[in-house]
Amino acid sequence: MRLEAGRIFRHDDFMFRFRHLSLFALVLWPLCSRGEITNDAIVRATAAVQAAAPRAQADPTRPVFHVTAPAQWINDPNGPIFYKGFYHLFYQLHPFSDGSGPKYWGHVRSRDLAKWEPLPIALWPSSEAGESEVWSGCCTINGEGKPMIFYTSIAPGKSAGDHAEQWAAIGDDDLITWRKSPANPVLTEELHGGKKIYDWRDPFIFHDKKKTFLVTGGNLNRARGGQAVVNIYEAQNVGLTQWKYRGVMFQIPEGATAECPNFFKLGDQWVLFVSPYGKVQYFVGDFDAETCRFKPRTRGLLDYGSSFYAPNTMQVPDGRRLVWGWLNGFPGGHGWNGCLSLPRLLSWSRDGQLRQNPAPQLSRLRGKKVEWRNIHLDNGSETLTLPNTNTLEILAEIDLKTAKSIELRIKGGAQDAQPIIVSSDGSELQVMNAKAPLPLPNGERKLNLRIFIDRSVLEVFANETVCITKIISPPDAGATLEIRANGGSANAKLVQAWPMKTIW
Ligand code: FRU
Repeated sequence: MRLEAGRIFRHDDFMFRFRHLSLFALVLWPLCSRGEITNDAIVRATAAVQAAAPRAQADPTRPVFHVTAPAQWINDPNGPIFYKGFYHLFYQLHPFSDGSGPKYWGHVRSRDLAKWEPLPIALWPSSEAGESEVWSGCCTINGEGKPMIFYTSIAPGKSAGDHAEQWAAIGDDDLITWRKSPANPVLTEELHGGKKIYDWRDPFIFHDKKKTFLVTGGNLNRARGGQAVVNIYEAQNVGLTQWKYRGVMFQIPEGATAECPNFFKLGDQWVLFVSPYGKVQYFVGDFDAETCRFKPRTRGLLDYGSSFYAPNTMQVPDGRRLVWGWLNGFPGGHGWNGCLSLPRLLSWSRDGQLRQNPAPQLSRLRGKKVEWRNIHLDNGSETLTLPNTNTLEILAEIDLKTAKSIELRIKGGAQDAQPIIVSSDGSELQVMNAKAPLPLPNGERKLNLRIFIDRSVLEVFANETVCITKIISPPDAGATLEIRANGGSANAKLVQAWPMKTIW
């Protein structure tokens, strides 16, 4: 019998299931799904997450429509893949506390990108094989039709900056049960023929011209401050267990290192995402599968807040691409820390800019809409009453007309509530203290905003191209939205707001 293992983590009736299924979850599930106890790390990790879950899930600052672990610390999204009718997302998990520590892979899946189902921990360190952490990576289907995870394996007592290996795991068809590949380590530093790559990590697989490639991040010349590079390897067999180093695909012009490279074709252009210990950068250009070199033409930032990092992308069946980032910077001590961004759909705008939109399926989480049309503002403001919750989506289509600036203030019901302020002066978007260039062409000074408030998470999408994510202190329910035009007149053509439902 195969246990529907995901059920043990459902949030709604967690306590009921916790009491009744803890024996199953802690002892029987690992045994019956694997047929052996290979490592008691999984038993202890599952118990630690379960023990922390009631407190984490009762915390009023914990987001409800962003993916999180049932409890404890998470960071990067890992291995997003659409397979056999499910969107699967893995994530870096430290199961033993709500601070960072040795990493495991947590797992969730969804049929529709709106509702998600927590699943058992997918990967844990194989201490018996000399592994102490399983770091970020990707998930793919190899040439023999087998699901494979590639990830960075960290050994006990070794500094990850100086020594790492890239390992693989083979999955069952439901992607719930994984076994480490007998071919491990599948990529070692020996491939580099003596060239030292520091912080060598985060494998990501892509295909071009019927070849399979893998990129990793890292840096050279650490003694001189580090030169961030994306390294490229070409698969030598369909099982993806043999790889050849093809050199440095791209040197990041600045930045000490490159973490979590993602490289993919969007339309007819190649896009590289890298996380350089700072704001996530993207580069757009051409890739030559013969020489394995990438030549970017343009670049930009994926998010102008300082809380979005280490994004990972997934191709969906219709060829479109989604991205999730790790949202960080939450205060500690709540039994949970970190969540993933909303899924963002990537495309090109008519004038060739990288467009990021919240995945359309998120509209399934909307409750009852409130709506206003054509609010004319002449050097003054209007105050609107928002749905009575702090899990909200707000959509605003504003024509700045002659106004020098426009300001949206979302303020909780309490007297001393700190407002969330989003403003534009026609050339720059400002969300609290974060700024992004956003020129509004003269004659068409249109600002379209999608604002998501999920308790302590704020994600703002402006004109489909600029994103700013912030960690906030959650507004209380009973919030109002004040829209103000300064130094001229503006028209808020359409304002809509919805209470948002939980994804669990
Ligand atoms: C990015 C990162 C990755 C690494 C992982 C470890 O946040 O540092 O480079 O694989 O986190 O959790």
